[in-house]
Amino acid sequence: MRRAYWTMIGAALAAFSVPAAADPLTPTGRWSANTDGFAPVPPMGWNSWNAFNSDVDEEKVLASAQALIDTRLAALGYRYVNIDDGWWLKRRQPDGRMLIRTSHFPSAATGADTSFRPLTDRLHAMGLKAGLYSDIGRNSCGQIYTPDFKNQPEGSVAEREVGLYGHVDQDIALYFKDWNFDYLKVDGCGARGLPADAARVKSGLYRALTPLVDMQSLGGSDVAGIRTLYEEVHVALHKYAADRPYVYSLCLWGAGDVRAWGKDVGNSSRTSDDIQPVWGRMLTNLDTVTHRALYAHPGSWNDPDMLFVGTGDFDEAHLTEARSHFAIWAMVNSPLIIGYDLRKLTPALLAIFGNADIVALNQDPAGNQAVLAYDSEEVQIFVKTLADGSKGVAILNRTALPAKAVLTADHLKMLATADVALRDLWSKTSQTFRGELAVTLAPHETLVFRATGSRRLANARYLSELTGSVNPAADGVVVPEADPTIYRSITPWTKTRGPGDHPQYGGWGGAEADRAPYGKVMRMAGKTFDTGIGVLANSRLEVRNAGYARFAATVGINDSGQPRSGTTVFEIWGDARLLATSRAVAFGEPAVLIEAKVTGVKIIELVARASATARPVQPAIWADAALYR
Ligand code: GLA
Repeated sequence: MRRAYWTMIGAALAAFSVPAAADPLTPTGRWSANTDGFAPVPPMGWNSWNAFNSDVDEEKVLASAQALIDTRLAALGYRYVNIDDGWWLKRRQPDGRMLIRTSHFPSAATGADTSFRPLTDRLHAMGLKAGLYSDIGRNSCGQIYTPDFKNQPEGSVAEREVGLYGHVDQDIALYFKDWNFDYLKVDGCGARGLPADAARVKSGLYRALTPLVDMQSLGGSDVAGIRTLYEEVHVALHKYAADRPYVYSLCLWGAGDVRAWGKDVGNSSRTSDDIQPVWGRMLTNLDTVTHRALYAHPGSWNDPDMLFVGTGDFDEAHLTEARSHFAIWAMVNSPLIIGYDLRKLTPALLAIFGNADIVALNQDPAGNQAVLAYDSEEVQIFVKTLADGSKGVAILNRTALPAKAVLTADHLKMLATADVALRDLWSKTSQTFRGELAVTLAPHETLVFRATGSRRLANARYLSELTGSVNPAADGVVVPEADPTIYRSITPWTKTRGPGDHPQYGGWGGAEADRAPYGKVMRMAGKTFDTGIGVLANSRLEVRNAGYARFAATVGINDSGQPRSGTTVFEIWGDARLLATSRAVAFGEPAVLIEAKVTGVKIIELVARASATARPVQPAIWADAALYR
């Protein structure tokens, strides 16, 4: 009797007890960033939003699709044709089926149940792929934020709840199984803009939804809650679209700490608020991805938003700016989604979108986002290691004045004693240099080269050259901070009203290639290193090993850390087996060598473990980290 009683209590407790959360530093032998869906290289295509806002219709979509074919941009890779906000009419009651605005999409008028199937069939027959837009909440961005929004959903409060909230399974089945879409962008306004005291809630227009994300306050965001909602969509996509390639595009604008988890959930993740056809705003969006090369991989890309080439500061009269925007988006492995009315495409604009050499930088199979090799407010040099070991190089003049820059062999991790060959990917001219090359940049100009030379490591790769194969599974960030280096621009919609733009995107201090956290130089006990991975202690990096035999690094605490702050031990793991451990290293001590044989290992894990007393968290550096053949 007694025993039965305790067995019963034990079973009841077991049913309620939550399993202890896995220690994020424990190696798993797995690659944990997202590989579901289909985005081995950044998605390319066209989207209606930047060109037409919500005034989207079938004629415009098909004209753009036809233009992609006629201009051969489709053949170059621009395959996704994506319908953004504005397509929906209402959510039918009581069955909740989404209805399409057939006045704008006549082929969807297939009876009482409208269907996008005729349109997606047509796009597929053209050799293209089809994308659709939704929101993670009950209502869309246009409904919540745009007063004069065209094509608003109609009907009762429930009929106007067109977002996925409460309908994930039903909608994903409809969009992917029935309508046969290949791509879904999921916006987040419905989970942000409808607190009980919002004017449009109080007026009875929409139902309140307690906000999960607050763009201005990470502390005021329910990070686990918003992540769970986006994960539910991932699960539904896996259920209804696993039989074919699909793309899941997260649109949470860098809010809700998505910088830390977006790569584990979607195929691409927006890092900033909306791009505008304004130079300063393009820089703002660029800056939100610059320090995040290690958070982007085949299958999970950083997304600084769609291209605005063709419009405003990037129009026909500003081809220098248009080229810069395009080239730099290609270098940082952004999805290349055209946001221009392709019916108006001119030869000069086509030459930009159609620059096969620059598209090839973006679509390189190694999937390494460009790393910042030189940084300043005026000039930045980005370097991207390509699958064949050559490099893409972009030298960006952010200013409206001419600028001078010097590109060095060291920026390229090439020998200064041998020739470096540069091919200019705009002018298609070639030149060589030894040691360094002085260049002059026109205002807002970006020079883009493909560089070949004698690599500093002939038979090896620095880990910072392989950003697409390094995943910060745990990056040691305890309190995510906004990145103060993001350019703050005058937004066209507020002008200079109010207090101005504040840095608001989390992630400052995360893992970085060739830099210590917080953008600092890598330096230990006074010795500077120009290559390596900088991360905070209490971190775990997953590294895909493509046939290398040995891993070695010089590890320690960066001089940008704090004295009297405990010690850190560095460990190398291979497929979840411990291969090597460093001695405990403290601030101010010289870096120590750590190495291990990794022949046959698929996933190498690099763990930096701080002693229990370590406060504050120290910058832990894997300097000169490299994989050797
Ligand atoms: C948000 C997104 C944009 C666009 C609009 C549509 O602002 O960030 O990319 O989809 O919504 O309303």
